[in-house]
Amino acid sequence: MEKRRPNLAHQALQVENLVKEYGKLRAVYDVTFEVRSGEIFGLLGPNGAGKTSIISVIVTLEKATGGQVKVFGHDVETESRLTKSLTGFVPQEVINHGFFSCREVLAFISGFYGRRSNWDRIDYLLNRLGLWDHRNKKVKELSGGMKRRLMIAKALVHEPKLLLLDEPTAGVDIELRTSLWQFVLELKREGISILLTTHYLEEAEELCDRVAILRQGEICRMGPTKDLVRDLTMRSVRLVLNQSLAPLQHPLLVGQAASCLEFQLPAAMGVGQLLAELSLDPRYISDIQIVEGDLEDAFRLVVRDQI
Ligand SMILES: Nc1ncnc2c1ncn2[C@@H]1O[C@H](COP(=O)(O)OP(=O)(O)OP(=O)(O)O)[C@@H](O)[C@H]1O
Ligand SMILES: [Mg+2]
Repeated sequence: MEKRRPNLAHQALQVENLVKEYGKLRAVYDVTFEVRSGEIFGLLGPNGAGKTSIISVIVTLEKATGGQVKVFGHDVETESRLTKSLTGFVPQEVINHGFFSCREVLAFISGFYGRRSNWDRIDYLLNRLGLWDHRNKKVKELSGGMKRRLMIAKALVHEPKLLLLDEPTAGVDIELRTSLWQFVLELKREGISILLTTHYLEEAEELCDRVAILRQGEICRMGPTKDLVRDLTMRSVRLVLNQSLAPLQHPLLVGQAASCLEFQLPAAMGVGQLLAELSLDPRYISDIQIVEGDLEDAFRLVVRDQI
């Protein structure tokens, strides 16, 4: 395989006006986004939104109907040998290599990338992904979670600069999920740029520098994760009172009971401002409980309420 150094001055991935149709079905429509060098970018969306279709075009498993995709500035169609050597890909579906051992599979994949005797890297990955004790087991003898880990090792064996993870933690237990996401953060620290899809929005919120929310093949919202959460969610503020008040009028009041008032505030509004507007005697307030909105709230708003 041809070896050229990626130009890190380029975006790790540029997807421009991508359209993907399967016959009459339009799965992806005019999608444009980039993964910047060194960031974790989350592609989020409900089942069938088009996430895997986009990734399939990036790794040339599928041909784009329209638009262009570049990896570190190189076109994935016309320079696919180069872009494949720069890209690691963990598919959504677990691929079974039945009769081969973990170590054999990794050696085989290394050979494919022109890296024979890549044992240091292979053994590092087996260790790092907790597969060392299973290295000589046949793949069919591995549990589902171990197979997932092997797929990640396979994607990393040729030291890619861009890693595409299509639901890497689907169906794995919470402990493994946490350790896989820790590993993803380490890869980011090593300078690898990462595109991931996941339905675990709490983890996406923690991990992703930026996210795009897809709905029916189109990007409806995109931006820094924190900004999306701030712009699209409300804070729930509950004032617990030590005596009952006469019915109160306030545009942000959503509930009043004998001993509590409930408000929904825009995420950017402070509780101090609310209290000032209410001009309540602080002696009436025995507690203030705040629940911040999260990425799941933002996602629900965009996808279900279609804003
Ligand atoms: N090979 C294919 N042939 C025909 N239609 C396809 C093919 N692959 C995907 N589709 C259709 O394209 C649309 C997008 O599917 P895709 O797999 O990209 O969604 P996704 O966002 O990855 O969903 P999920 O969260 O379920 O993995 C769906 O309507 C799906 O049925
Ligand atoms: Mg998918």
